[in-house]
Amino acid sequence: MKLSDSPPDAACHRSQVAGWELLEFEVVDSTNFVAGKLGAWHAVRADTQTAGRGRFQRTWVSDAGGLWLSAVVPTGADRERWQALPLVAGLAVIESLKAFGLASARLRWPNDIMVNERKLAGLLVDTFKPQLAVIGLGVNVTNQPAAHDPTLKTTSTRLADLLARPPSLATLTAAILASLKSEMDVMAQSGFSALKPRINELWGGPRRVTIDLDGVQRFGLFTGIDDGGRLLMQDDKNGPTAFEPHQVRLLREI
Ligand code: BTN
Repeated sequence: MKLSDSPPDAACHRSQVAGWELLEFEVVDSTNFVAGKLGAWHAVRADTQTAGRGRFQRTWVSDAGGLWLSAVVPTGADRERWQALPLVAGLAVIESLKAFGLASARLRWPNDIMVNERKLAGLLVDTFKPQLAVIGLGVNVTNQPAAHDPTLKTTSTRLADLLARPPSLATLTAAILASLKSEMDVMAQSGFSALKPRINELWGGPRRVTIDLDGVQRFGLFTGIDDGGRLLMQDDKNGPTAFEPHQVRLLREI
């Protein structure tokens, strides 16, 4: 994957925030690409992205007013630790949003943040260098995603639609980075299983889903994750089954 055309030495504002070195730009191609050149505990925020990326090579609308943030974290060589990152980041974002009064946000496996059936935020984890991961997160705040992509009119939501007074981007950035640092510290000290109970409270209860196992569809009840971050599903034929995240190409709620 190509790294950024927007180098970290382009005009940017640098500050120390909650244990992170934060670089802020007016515009970059993708904050994940810029962050991919940096070391652990660097974060990159941009007012807009010209090539914002979503999962499955989709475009991520990144207009002014949204939070487009990437954070570089150490992963070590442990695959389990790496594959848990979207869940840890989702937990960190939802915890921060709760502190601003948003009680209704939930996780949709593995890394969408939803309010009811609409998407508020998405996460994209990339690896550009060994033993480092870039956690990219996009949160709709006061931006206008539907003005750029009409299909988002019924599928997306923004903090401005949900809170009487949405936090400023600076306040939200600091809160999310602080929360992410603290959850990463818990994982480093006590392992992923220490976070599992809190993550399992965020699914909004069991949900009927279909999962795509590389072309093979399975229907069942999504019930959460286990200590290793595996997806737990129950169906009439097979009983409870645990799937490694990399086995599941796509999960759809039905
Ligand atoms: C998804 O839900 O498909 C993931 C969306 C991730 C968007 C964020 S915005 C900041 C970072 N930079 C990118 O290009 N993508 C992520």
